[in-house]
Amino acid sequence: MSDKKIGAWHWFDFAKLDSTNNYALSQASSLSSSQKILYTAQMQTSGRGRRGRSWDSPLGNLYFSQLFFSPLSPVEIVYITALSVVQTIKKITDKLVPQIKWPNDILINDCKIGGILIEKSKEGAYIVGVGINLISSPKQNTVYPAASLRDFEIDINRDDFLKLYLAAFEDNLSQSFTAIKNNFLANAYKLHQNITIGLGDKKISGQFIGIDENGFLLLKQEENTLVINTGEILFS
Ligand code: BTN
Repeated sequence: MSDKKIGAWHWFDFAKLDSTNNYALSQASSLSSSQKILYTAQMQTSGRGRRGRSWDSPLGNLYFSQLFFSPLSPVEIVYITALSVVQTIKKITDKLVPQIKWPNDILINDCKIGGILIEKSKEGAYIVGVGINLISSPKQNTVYPAASLRDFEIDINRDDFLKLYLAAFEDNLSQSFTAIKNNFLANAYKLHQNITIGLGDKKISGQFIGIDENGFLLLKQEENTLVINTGEILFS
């Protein structure tokens, strides 16, 4: 394990962990209110995704978890994280159009290249877990099409990605929610188009017309507009 700093973030890099989110959760009780800690692992043996899914974590991709306290709401942290990943990719290349599939999948050309799993410790600290497919992606047994940055001829190493990402994240933390929301929408997958949202076993369709002041997705149906605060847009 090595111990360095990137900006305000104290960075602990491990050769292998079961899950950087699990490790961050295990450290939360000793976190002070102003500390910002970043945990990375070169590989994970039990990487976790949203909705109880697993996250393939072979050597060569990026797996990290940020551990910190923040007065911002979970919705704000989710949008800030997704937006920071998209801004990082845009800094690396102007040839691709990364998008955020609400609430927090990162896509390029309709393929998932990154995922975000945000949790809170019992002390109230945020654990922001991010996985980015830098050089490889799962080709089988996924519920979605996946790709890596390398598939799009983008060569970026883990440390450079992290530095760009953390700079974007810090900058976004100081923006208003309106600014974050508008920037999120400017990068949103299928905005103004028909989408289907998966809510557990339920599916609900309509036109994705925006996000309200609470961060909830607005889904226009024939008669009315639904306000959705859970679930995810499904690939169609
Ligand atoms: C998803 O799209 O389902 C979320 C995937 C989140 C994966 C990252 S990898 C680093 C961190 N540690 C984990 O176990 N999961 C997150």
